[in-house]
Amino acid sequence: MTSSTTAMTYVIIGGASGMGLATVQTLLARGSEVAVCDISEENLETLLAHLTPEASSKCFAKPVDVTDRSAVNFFFHAAKEHFGKLNGIANFAGTGGHGLGTDAVWQTSEDEYNFIMDLNVKGLFNVLSSALVPGFLSKHASVVHIGSIFSEKGFLNGAVFAASKHAALGMVRSAAKETKGRVRVNCVLPGVIDTPMHRANLARVKNFTPTPATPIPRDGTAQEVANVVTFLLSEESSFVTGDAWNVDGGANA
Ligand SMILES: NC(=O)c1ccc[n+]([C@@H]2O[C@H](COP(=O)([O-])OP(=O)(O)OC[C@H]3O[C@@H](n4cnc5c(N)ncnc54)[C@H](O)[C@@H]3O)[C@@H](O)[C@H]2O)c1
Repeated sequence: MTSSTTAMTYVIIGGASGMGLATVQTLLARGSEVAVCDISEENLETLLAHLTPEASSKCFAKPVDVTDRSAVNFFFHAAKEHFGKLNGIANFAGTGGHGLGTDAVWQTSEDEYNFIMDLNVKGLFNVLSSALVPGFLSKHASVVHIGSIFSEKGFLNGAVFAASKHAALGMVRSAAKETKGRVRVNCVLPGVIDTPMHRANLARVKNFTPTPATPIPRDGTAQEVANVVTFLLSEESSFVTGDAWNVDGGANA
C-alpha cells in the first residue's frame, strides 16, 4: 500500500510488543524503513524472525533501555547513519508499574515511584532531548508519544502512573511550542487496549476495569492505536501538533 509514510524512515521505541509492534508492522507494510528498539532482546528476535525478507531489509533493530539517555542518543544516531535520515519517532516504552489498580499512593514505595517516573517521564525526556536538537530530524518530522487516557484524569489506585502520564503530556505540549512546527510533537492517549501489558494486569488484578462505561463497549486493539500513530507520523497530519489524541472507544467523552 502506498501512503505518505512510504519511503519515510521512523524510529519506534518499545516496538517489540503490543501497540509498538503493530505500528512497526503497519509502517513496514506501507513501505517505510523502521529502526526499532526495545528493552526485550527476546521480543526483538521474535519480531525479526517473523518479517518477510523485503520487510527485513527495511528494519534496523537493537536492544535499548529508554531510561538510559546515552543509549537512546546512540541508537538515534546509529539509525540515522544506517538509513541516512529520520522522518519521525514514536515512543511506546512505558509502564503501569507493579501495583496499578491495587496500591493507593500511601502504599506505593519510593522504589516503585522511581521506576514509573524513570520509564514514563525520564524516558520521554531522553527521547525529546536527543531527537529535537535542531537539524537532527528531517524537515517536517513528527514525534509521537504514547500516553494514556489517564494523562488527563486520575486513576483509582494508580496515582503515580497517572502523574507520570500527566507529566509526559505536559512535556509533549511544551516541546511542540518549542519546536514551532519544525518538528510536530503529539501524544496518543489509549484507553483499554488488548496487549500483553493489559493481559498481565488482568492476570494480576481481579476485575481490572479501568474504564467501566465506554460508548464503544469493548477493548481496543493494538492495530487501532497503530492506525492513529501512523497518521500522526505521516504528513497527512501536517497541521497537528501539541495535541492529545484519544483512542479509547469514547471512554473520555
Ligand atoms: N494496553 C493498554 O491498555 C494501555 C492503555 C493506556 C496506555 N498504555 C501505554 O501504551 C504504551 C504501550 O503499551 P502496550 O500495552 O503496547 O505494552 P506492551 O508491554 O505490550 O509493550 C510495551 C513495550 O515497551 C517495552 N519496554 C518496556 N520498558 C522499556 C524500556 N525501559 N526501554 C525500552 N523498551 C521498553 C517492552 O519490552 C514492550 O515491548 C505504554 O506506554 C503504556 O503505558 C497502554
